[in-house]
Amino acid sequence: MSHPTEPASIVVLASGRGSNFRALCEAAARGRLPAKIGALVTNVCGVGACDVAREFGVPVIEVPHAGLKRAEHEHKLFDALARLKFDWLVLAGYMRLFTPSFIDRFYDQTRQASRVVNIHPSLLPAFPGVDGYGQALRYGVKYAGATVHLVGAGLDDGPIVAQRVVEVRDDDTEETLRERGLAVEHELYAAALKDLIARPWRIGHGKLEGGRPRVVFEGGKNEHD
Ligand code: GRF
Repeated sequence: MSHPTEPASIVVLASGRGSNFRALCEAAARGRLPAKIGALVTNVCGVGACDVAREFGVPVIEVPHAGLKRAEHEHKLFDALARLKFDWLVLAGYMRLFTPSFIDRFYDQTRQASRVVNIHPSLLPAFPGVDGYGQALRYGVKYAGATVHLVGAGLDDGPIVAQRVVEVRDDDTEETLRERGLAVEHELYAAALKDLIARPWRIGHGKLEGGRPRVVFEGGKNEHD
């Protein structure tokens, strides 16, 4: 891990349009995120995230999954990542599940935490899986949101770093809710990563038996609040 005062190095994994990736590139370029984005790795050649990478001068590494078994693809992905040096592997719309053994390879023993971070479009543990905003609308909840979490072995689990609420309006459609949600994600992701990089933190364990661990920031004010 980098010393907290040094910029961290980040590798981003994305499969799609890349609006979160763009927000991270902008935050890094404007000094709001003390990080250097060393590479974009994608499993889908030519997606929007690749255009964003070119715009910001970030090298693109393509590791397509098409036609490969999960284990074969993960093997290639790990080989590609092993050639890079980074502190954080940041998922920004990476639309594939990892096996627990892949995630294990990025486990930091000292911190007892994964070095893989994800943003999910719901207030976890509500609405894991795909289409968080659509699920929120279908369930009729009044508040949706976004969660930044360290990646655990199961679907959308692992210690929560930061969450932000997005109100569901009576006249929302999936499109309008997603649009407001993404705007919140873009701010939240950069702020939560900044906190992980620059602030002291530890993993706090659930207050109740079987509870989900959470990232506990020590002292001072969080950027992501
Ligand atoms: C975002 O909603 C993110 O929370 C989820 O996938 C979506 C990616 O969107 N994991 P984009 O590619 O960053 O625009």
